[in-house]
Amino acid sequence: MSDDDQALDSLAESIAATAKYKNVSPELVRSIGARELAKGQSFKSAVKATKNKLHQVGSAYQAGRIDYGRPLRMLREADSMEEWRATCCDIMRLHASTRERLPILDHFYETVLADIPAPRRVLDIACGFNPLASSWMPLAEDASYIAYDIYADMMDFLADYLGLAGLNGRAEVRDIIHQPLQETADLALLLKTLPCLEQVEKGSAARILDAVQARHMLISYPVSSLGGRQKGMVATYDTQFEALLAGRQWTVQRFLFDTELVFLVDTVVKNL
Ligand SMILES: C[S@@+](CC[C@H](N)C(=O)[O-])C[C@H]1O[C@@H](n2cnc3c(N)ncnc32)[C@H](O)[C@@H]1O
Repeated sequence: MSDDDQALDSLAESIAATAKYKNVSPELVRSIGARELAKGQSFKSAVKATKNKLHQVGSAYQAGRIDYGRPLRMLREADSMEEWRATCCDIMRLHASTRERLPILDHFYETVLADIPAPRRVLDIACGFNPLASSWMPLAEDASYIAYDIYADMMDFLADYLGLAGLNGRAEVRDIIHQPLQETADLALLLKTLPCLEQVEKGSAARILDAVQARHMLISYPVSSLGGRQKGMVATYDTQFEALLAGRQWTVQRFLFDTELVFLVDTVVKNL
């Protein structure tokens, strides 16, 4: 084993030994760690920089350590749609990305998916707690739902959630930058995901759009930073998305909500 491989193994081990990052996808830890080690900084600095990046793309969205036992019990015990949805909202509040969607959730999916057939196969890429919004989505009766994110404990919880919600499919740990997507879908959700991927690897947003095999894609961007500042983000992301569309000949619908900028993409190229 080379010195580089040994250093990377040690870095991955020391990250896996921390309570905050032990559940994170080893693939993502190793790819970020390898890049930091290659910069020639000290081992300690490379570990610190890897943790900072993991915080920036994942942990910064979560409200500390989450105990999944209680919400799971509450979901199991919910005996009305009202109780079920209230519990789902409590869980979605624990992740900044779904928390800021809650005020618009009642009309979000109904608005953005109004013009397409009810999806039978949904792929939720870098999902966070968004699968908890499934009862707000106009899905087909026998829909299946595949969800990916980088946290093992989150994905175990979401796998239980999908079962309780009566949805086929699965929730899996996957670093979507470094583990290629295989599945086809009617609808792929890439909600507020592309900027996160770019923070890890420049060019990864375009590569993901190339890799997703779905008739429709729902792609969104935040309209303010995690700290709540607006900073002209709508204009910035409009421009970024336009650049991603270049040469793709997709049909796009744009929606601007109070807390999210959304694009519904039809990937079928129309022969005019
Ligand atoms: C801004 S949040 C969006 C969450 C969700 N899509 C939503 O809008 O509610 C970004 C999510 O991407 C996940 N993530 C970051 N890097 C990832 C990667 N390489 N592969 C898969 N998921 C990733 C994070 O854990 C986080 O849940």
